[in-house]
Amino acid sequence: TIVAIAMGGYSSEFQISLNSGNVVYKHIDLEKYTPYRVHILKEEWLAFDDENHSYVINKNDFSFIKQGKTIRFDVVFNIIHGTPGEDGKLQAYLELLNIPQTACDFYSAALTFNKRDTISVLKPYGIKTATNVFINKGDTVNVNQIISKVGLPCFVKANKAGSSFGISKVYNAEEFPKALDVAFKEDDEVLVESFLDGTEVSVGVITYNTTITALPITEIVSENDFFDYEAKYNGQSQEITPARISDAQRDEVQQIAIKIYKTLKLKGLTRAEFIFHNNEPHFLEVNTCPGLSEASIIPQQAAEAGISLKDLFSNVIAAAMH
Ligand code: DAL
Ligand code: MG
Repeated sequence: TIVAIAMGGYSSEFQISLNSGNVVYKHIDLEKYTPYRVHILKEEWLAFDDENHSYVINKNDFSFIKQGKTIRFDVVFNIIHGTPGEDGKLQAYLELLNIPQTACDFYSAALTFNKRDTISVLKPYGIKTATNVFINKGDTVNVNQIISKVGLPCFVKANKAGSSFGISKVYNAEEFPKALDVAFKEDDEVLVESFLDGTEVSVGVITYNTTITALPITEIVSENDFFDYEAKYNGQSQEITPARISDAQRDEVQQIAIKIYKTLKLKGLTRAEFIFHNNEPHFLEVNTCPGLSEASIIPQQAAEAGISLKDLFSNVIAAAMH
C-alpha cells in the first residue's frame, strides 16, 4: 500500500503541518505501508522517498514518475492544517480522482474550518457556545455595539484559521483596530466572541477499530494570556492529561464531542475544544486535521489511552481505505 503523507499547505500553519507529517512518517508501520512525504506547497507539489529524493507530482492525477515508472498512491494521509487540506479543497480534488484520504470529506471539512458556520449548525442540537459577532472584510465596524453584545474582555479571531494565528484577546475598545488587522491578515472573515471564564479542555475523538471513541481529555493551562501560538508550541502552557475534572464532567464533554463528530460526519482523527463555563461545556471549535507534532495534544491523549502512534496511524489509514 503506497501512502502519501500530505503535509505543508498554503497557510501560516505550514511549518506545524510539516512537523506533524514527519511524526506520521516516523511512526507509520513500514511492514504494511510504503510512505512518501508529499509536500503540498504553493509553488509545487513534491514527493520525497526514504532517500530524500524528490519527485514532482503531476496535479492531473496525483502521480509521479520514479525511475521511469509511474507511481500512484493508494491512500493519502492528510495532515495539512489549514488550507487546502483542512478546508475541503484537497478532499474534493482527491475525491474526483477516486483516491481515499484519512480526514473527513470536503463538505464536512469546509464546514468545520469555518468557526461561525460550525457553531450555527451545532446550536440547534443544544450545544452551548460563546456569544459572537461576525464581520466580513469591508463591513462598517461599530466597536461599541460589538462590545455591548459580547462584553470585555473578548476574543477577536480569524474565522477560518488554526494554531491561534489571527487571534487576539481584547480588553478595551482601543485594542480593537489592531486585533482586526491581525485577524484579517489570516482570513477575510472575523469572529468576535465573548470571553468564557473557566477550565479549557481539548477532546480527541477518533474512529478506532471502526468505533467512534473519545480519547482521555486534556486540560489546557496557559501561562500566557490565552492558549496562543507560543503557548501551543513553545511550551508556554501546561497540558494536563487526563484533565482535572470530575468523572461526570468528563463523560458529559466526551459525549458532546462524539455527538459533534457524528452530527458533522467527521472521520479519522479530530479534536474539539471546550470551556467549562458556569460548569457547562461550551464548544469553541473542532479541528479535523489536528496537530500530531511532538508538542501536540492527540499524541499525548493516545499515549494516555495506551494506543501507540503506529497503531493509531494504521487504524486511520485502514478506515480511510475501507
Ligand atoms: N490547528 C492545529 C494544528 C491543531 O488543531 O492542532
Ligand atoms: Mg483550531
